[in-house]
Amino acid sequence: MRTILVTGGAGFIGANFVRMLIERGEDVKLVVLDKLTYAGNLGNINDLLASQPERLVFVKGDICDGDVVQAMFDDHGCREVVHFAAESHVDRSILSSSPFIQTNVVGTQVLLDVAKSKNAERFVHVSTDEVYGSLPEDKPEIKFAEETPMAPNSPYSASKAASDCLVRAYFHTFHMPVMMTRCSNNYGPYQFPEKALPLFITNLMQGMKIPLYGDGLNIRDWLYVEDHCQAIWTVLNKGKAGEVYNIGGNNEMTNRAIVDTILREMGSNWDDGVQYVKDRPGHDRRYAIDAGKIKRELGWEPRHRFHTAIKKTIQWYKDHQDWWRAIKNGEYLKYYQTQYAGR
Ligand code: NAD
Ligand code: DAU
Repeated sequence: MRTILVTGGAGFIGANFVRMLIERGEDVKLVVLDKLTYAGNLGNINDLLASQPERLVFVKGDICDGDVVQAMFDDHGCREVVHFAAESHVDRSILSSSPFIQTNVVGTQVLLDVAKSKNAERFVHVSTDEVYGSLPEDKPEIKFAEETPMAPNSPYSASKAASDCLVRAYFHTFHMPVMMTRCSNNYGPYQFPEKALPLFITNLMQGMKIPLYGDGLNIRDWLYVEDHCQAIWTVLNKGKAGEVYNIGGNNEMTNRAIVDTILREMGSNWDDGVQYVKDRPGHDRRYAIDAGKIKRELGWEPRHRFHTAIKKTIQWYKDHQDWWRAIKNGEYLKYYQTQYAGR
């Protein structure tokens, strides 16, 4: 049985990754290291921690703490790493960038140093398409390729780009068996309701409006989270050390088109359900991924189609109101006020 350290495994994508591997019976023991920031939620994996204690272990801790990370290898026997832990929300990085530098840059460096000293066998760094910057909307033929130069535009994407540079350097200098993935926007269950899709869906359920930034014509390439998790698992198993793999849904949509779909599925309309608000500063116009390399070299491609997976996602938020209503409280309300009041 392989023992894998999963950083950030109580967050959105990390928890979906853990759930996918444990539920389908992969021959793995997963050790989740998570600081449980505002975005981490033990409720995302609690049922599996209780039912599969030999295969899933949780440790509350900070990836910036070298002693804690070292114990993952010495005490828990981890030999491979999948690194999800990060500060991940662009709007929060605009309000304050320092936690992003700390976790995304310093935390990744600490993790790399410990993994190097323990001769970790495989290390997947989960990064983002946002490191490439923004694409022109009038040139649909241009997409992000792995060779596209990095041009991050937000403090979040700058911190992720810095972590990517560190990962690259540890391959070149120390020959560490590291791989990097750069994925487009995910949606699905357990996503913290500050991100667009769960925010829009749950706002409508609360009788509130969708706050749509700017002209609503920014474009993202939406991928169902399970497809992303399968891609990461594929890279961990079959990826080549030192390589970058782009992951995307081949599903570019404007925010207006996304909102239109959600309104229709939820029986609402533009007048009752949407409020245009002041744009996000530095808002990237368009992201689009060329995922040809991972398909050609590793055989991965998305399996979920947007029009069915979005219905499934909306239904999940309808069926799990306790989950998101508990989050949309306390600190979240203060954040919402700071982020949206007067926009
Ligand atoms: P998330 O914010 O939902 O979860 C992040 C998790 O990391 C949380 O559980 C949090 O508690 C934990 N964490 C934060 N700081 C930590 C620290 N110092 N030590 C230990 N744990 C810490 O994020 P997500 O959306 O699941 O994203 C996961 C990763 O995937 C990130 O690296 C992000 O950059 C990347 N990514 C996200 C998307 C997306 O659409 N959400 C797309 C591409 C890439
Ligand atoms: O592309 C991958 C990235 O996708 C990940 O690296 C990030 O961690 C993840 O948060 C996401 O970044 P975005 O900034 O694209 O996602 P967000 O959900 O914040 O916003 C999606 C789009 O919706 C974007 O164009 C901004 C817009 N938006 C967002 C919010 C929160 C609104 O119009 N209103 C909102 O209230």
